[in-house]
Amino acid sequence: MCGIVGYISNKEKLKLAKFMTMIKSLDYRGYDSWGVSHLSDKINLIKEIGKIENTDLPGESNLILGHTRWATHGGVTKENAHPHLSNDKNISLVHNGIIENYQELKSKLDGFNFSGQTDSEVLTNYIQSKLTEDTLSSFAQILPDLKGTYAIGFLKRGENKIYFARKDSPLVLGIGKDEKILSSDVTSFFDRTKTVIYLEDGDYGYIEGNSVKIFNSGEEVERKKSTITWDIDKARKGEFEHFMLKEISEQVDVINQVLIQDSKNISSIVNDLKTKNIFMVACGTSYNAALAAEYEFLKQGIMPKVIRAHEFRSYSKFVDKNSIVLAISQSGETIDLIDALKSIKNSGAEIVSIVNVQGSTLDRMSDKRIYMNVGPEICVLSTKSYTASVSILMLLAGCITDTYETSKANLTEIIRQIYYLTSENSRKYTKELSQLLRYTKHLFTIGRKRDYPTAMEAALKIKEVSYIHAEGFAGGQIKHGPIAMIENGTPCIVFVSNKNNSEILSNAQELKSRGAFIIGVSDKNHDVFDFWIKVIGPDKYSPILRTIPIQILAYYLAVLKGLDPDKPRNLAKSVTVK
Ligand code: AGP
Ligand code: GLU
Repeated sequence: MCGIVGYISNKEKLKLAKFMTMIKSLDYRGYDSWGVSHLSDKINLIKEIGKIENTDLPGESNLILGHTRWATHGGVTKENAHPHLSNDKNISLVHNGIIENYQELKSKLDGFNFSGQTDSEVLTNYIQSKLTEDTLSSFAQILPDLKGTYAIGFLKRGENKIYFARKDSPLVLGIGKDEKILSSDVTSFFDRTKTVIYLEDGDYGYIEGNSVKIFNSGEEVERKKSTITWDIDKARKGEFEHFMLKEISEQVDVINQVLIQDSKNISSIVNDLKTKNIFMVACGTSYNAALAAEYEFLKQGIMPKVIRAHEFRSYSKFVDKNSIVLAISQSGETIDLIDALKSIKNSGAEIVSIVNVQGSTLDRMSDKRIYMNVGPEICVLSTKSYTASVSILMLLAGCITDTYETSKANLTEIIRQIYYLTSENSRKYTKELSQLLRYTKHLFTIGRKRDYPTAMEAALKIKEVSYIHAEGFAGGQIKHGPIAMIENGTPCIVFVSNKNNSEILSNAQELKSRGAFIIGVSDKNHDVFDFWIKVIGPDKYSPILRTIPIQILAYYLAVLKGLDPDKPRNLAKSVTVK
């Protein structure tokens, strides 16, 4: 998934220590190793394995290229870390994506030496083997030879330029007065410039300190400049020790943020929802948000089809001009989702995105969009963007039978509960539970109806950050297999609705009879509970309200175990490789 930054200036040199903070801001994209190269009379290279712990690198330069890696090909070693240096030491290259035909390209590189196993090192040498004096034209001729996905940045000794190309992996340009920045994401530079160009698939070209040249299919193209509106403070931890806790706490503002919408846009989307076949497509937490909203649509008499984006291709033949596809994504860059939408490009279906990152690939490929407006989410775990997705979907579902104003008003009713759930007192209480569970190996979460997705999201949060094996089930599912896992003391988190809760309470009882330790999440305490987390508020919004304490529990479990909640092992915030 990797983060790329390239910096070029025709005036001031940039301190490498500052450049390192820019690279570090992208480490949510990958953090198994990192590297920086900068140009003087030769290409200087620094590479390390592990996360960027210390940004204090001596020196300065006006031409710098850096990378933070999430390995796909080849282990986590210094040799495999980027930038890669070509055999002749004239090219330094960073890459995000996978060059699928790298073996074939490698077989054409007779006499070349390879120090590692990455596709990216092969690419670097392949470029060396084909590059002529006219770097740009020869680079353009190389690109059709590459199969797979890429965001590429490279510099060449003797040239004051950073070359780039993009296909299916994100790449943007930051446009400063005397400096230009190539980056995977705006987060690396929005304290230097707020002017950005989002590159399109097939774009290639170069940046210099005072100019940008972009080409596509052999022609020079103009790409629109956009302005970043995000608040810089949102990308800083402030008083919080981790982004995860900060972003959990920020959920108190989410409802007001998601309600900043153009009512005409919403009503035109709602009209289509009333008449067309609805598909909801997403991955991970965004998928759980769609599942949670599905129950509300069903209540309104509409049956959407909710599909994990990576499985969508089997369904795409059923999508046509009478379909509306709701694509949900925090990053707007998840490749499985982008790929799913590409598969229905000519179907005539309307694509409506619910997305946080403005200008992202998803945003740009949508017919209509609803922004989450929650600002940057830095922690690898989705928390505030989950609440935003569920809120927006519930708002839409509500508008099927209610007016927009009523649906909005219903949503604002839960702000007070979110405030209570994220307060210091509630956090302290949940922290006590984390002490009880810290040595747990397996844990199960159950809920019925709309609390089934709540259970799935709760399990996902716990497992990805604390590495405790957690599985979410529908209450009705446990007797069909999972109950066999229950032993004396196995923790089971049970989400109990305010109304019609006799079946879920019976499920809790069945688990308890087999020795389970029952943690109830509900408005009232019930005899079957061994530990109770109080959550009041309408059942309709339970996927939001009952998930929050479990986000907090997951956070404290990670902290207690000495883990970094913002960057769990093996994960990256933007999943841009399949
Ligand atoms: C959430 O905590 C996960 N890290 C992950 O499941 C995530 O929700 C998923 O990769 C989808 O991301 P997106 O919303 O940016 O598309
Ligand atoms: N394939 C490259 C590597 O393994 C880049 C990986 C990525 O973009 O995640 O180094």
